[in-house]
Amino acid sequence: IERVDALQWPLVFPTERPRRLRRSSAIRSLVRETSLAPSDFVLPLFFNEVLDEARPVSTMPGVSQLPVAAAADQARLARSLGLGGIILFGLPRTKDASGSSAYDPNGPVPRAVAAMKDAVPDLLVITDVCVDEYTDHGHCGILRPGPRGHLEVDNDATLEVLAKTAVVHAAAGADIVAPSDMMDGRVDALRRALDGTGHESTAILSYAVKYASSFYGPFREAADCAPKFGDRAGYQMDPANTREALREARLDEEEGADLLMVKPALPYLDVIAKVRAASPLPLGAYNVSGEYAMIKAASAAGMIDEKRAVLELLTSIRRAGADFILTYHAVDAARWLG
Ligand code: PBG
Repeated sequence: IERVDALQWPLVFPTERPRRLRRSSAIRSLVRETSLAPSDFVLPLFFNEVLDEARPVSTMPGVSQLPVAAAADQARLARSLGLGGIILFGLPRTKDASGSSAYDPNGPVPRAVAAMKDAVPDLLVITDVCVDEYTDHGHCGILRPGPRGHLEVDNDATLEVLAKTAVVHAAAGADIVAPSDMMDGRVDALRRALDGTGHESTAILSYAVKYASSFYGPFREAADCAPKFGDRAGYQMDPANTREALREARLDEEEGADLLMVKPALPYLDVIAKVRAASPLPLGAYNVSGEYAMIKAASAAGMIDEKRAVLELLTSIRRAGADFILTYHAVDAARWLG
C-alpha cells in the first residue's frame, strides 16, 4: 500500500470524458438521441356492447371494458392529452362460428368509431380487425376440419370476413384499419375490398410481425377472446424466429400495407430494430397486456417505481426503432410527459 501511496495522482488524464455531456439536465436534453411524446402513443380501448357502465379488467389494473356511450368522452380525453391516436376493440352481444358480428355495422366498434369521430373529427381512429372477439370458439378465423379431422383455421375463408369487417370500420369513419389475425394475404384482401368500396383513403396498419406470445394473457380477459381449445401457434409466429419476421414484413409491404407493427414489444426489441432497418414504412410496436400487467404488479408490490419504469421502457421501444407505440400506459405516460 505504501508503494501505491507513493504514486503521483492523477497518473494520467482521461482523453475522453463522456461525463461532460451528462453533467446537467440541460445538456442531457440537448444530446438526447431518442424523444418520447404523447403523440407517439396509441391508446387501446375495449368497447363492450352489453355494458351500461365501465367494467374493470382484473388482470389489467387501470383498464376497463367500456360502454359504447363512453366513446365520445374517451375521444375528448385522447385529444386533450395529445395522444397519437386510439385503437378500438369490440366485445359483441352475440358470437357465432364465423364471427359474423365482426361486420355488423351496428356493432360496438362501428358505433364507437362514429361517436368518436363526431366528438373529435381530427382524432386518429384505428380499429383492430380480427374475428377472435366475435367467434364462439375464440380463434382468429373460420374453422374447418383438417386432413385428419382436427379443426384448423381456414385461411382463405377467413379473408372474406376480415375484408367485410375492414370495410364496415372504414365506412364508420376509421382512419386506419389494423388486421391482427395473421392470415396469409389479408393485407391484399383488405386493400382490394377497401378500394372496391370507395375507401381508397383508409390506411392499413398491418400487425405484420405478431408472435404467438404468452404476454397476451390479460388481453384475452379484457377482450373475452381466449381460444376455447388449442392455441394460436398455427397462425401466429414462433418466438424463436427473426428471418420469418422480415419475410412477413416484406410480404405485407408488397401487399400494400401503409404501416407495419411488431408485437409484443419488450421481448422483441431486436426484431423491431431489424424490421426498422429492412422497411421504409412507418413502424409501430405493441406494448401488450402482459407487459403492462408485469409493470402494474411489480409497482403495486413496491418493487419498482412505476413512472420511471414506464418512461424507460417506452423510450427503449422508440430507441429500438418504433415510430409509435400501442400502449395501455398511454394516458399515464402522456400526463407524466405533459
Ligand atoms: C387479436 C389480438 C390480440 C391482441 C391484440 N389483437 C390477442 C391475441 O392475438 O391473442 C393482444 C393485445 C394485448 O395483449 O395487449 N384480436
